[in-house]
Amino acid sequence: MAEASIGPMNKSNFLPPVTVALTGASGAQYGLRLIEALIAAGHEVWVMVSKAAHLVIETETDASLPARPERLAQALSERSGAAEGQIRCFGREDWMAPVASGSGAPSAMVICPCSTGTLSAVATGASNNLIERAADVALKERRQLILVPRETPLSAIHLEHMLNLARLGAVVLPAAPGFYHRPTTVDDLVDFIVARILNQLGIEHRLMPRWGE
Ligand SMILES: Cc1cc2nc3c(=O)[nH]c(=O)nc-3n(C[C@H](O)[C@H](O)[C@H](O)COP(=O)(O)O)c2cc1C
Repeated sequence: MAEASIGPMNKSNFLPPVTVALTGASGAQYGLRLIEALIAAGHEVWVMVSKAAHLVIETETDASLPARPERLAQALSERSGAAEGQIRCFGREDWMAPVASGSGAPSAMVICPCSTGTLSAVATGASNNLIERAADVALKERRQLILVPRETPLSAIHLEHMLNLARLGAVVLPAAPGFYHRPTTVDDLVDFIVARILNQLGIEHRLMPRWGE
């Protein structure tokens, strides 16, 4: 009889997967740059892109990403220089995807950018699509969940949902770059936020110096 293994499974050549969900808030560049940075750091990246996010990506960037998950993974891989199999994408209602269950989901998920719609759905446990379900799984499993909302001004509804999420252990990291590093390009502003996300994830980077360096 084969000996049962109780050790960790190591099925991938990459560092552990991080889930990245892009939703329909302005700031698609933050999410796309985050994927690039995670790929450069050697992580596997599991990606979900909402329908509204596709529209925002087309509006705000020169990228036009296909909707079908396999083709999306290919396009994102080409964009970010990912190795074969380093990026996996999941569709809106792919309930069989590993992120849909606590037994398969990675230890960290970032929703970047995060629309107020998705933020409220996560805060109330709606789980109406795979992004919302994956975030719900992250909360119930007490895994790392980072939301990067972009909206201004914020209503009491938004603020209450953010407070509830913070109390549940999620990190609310608004897409609000600082200016004390004297940014000169849009890329500098984008990297400011992506660096903050990587800091939260405990991933080394050289996107910008840390305070005091
Ligand atoms: C170009 C564009 C920019 C948008 N910017 C924002 C935004 O900054 N913040 C936000 O919460 N919603 C924004 N929206 C609205 C959301 O996309 C919309 O509420 C959508 O239903 C969100 O769906 P999702 O959470 O499934 O991606 C924007 C929509 C478009 C088309």
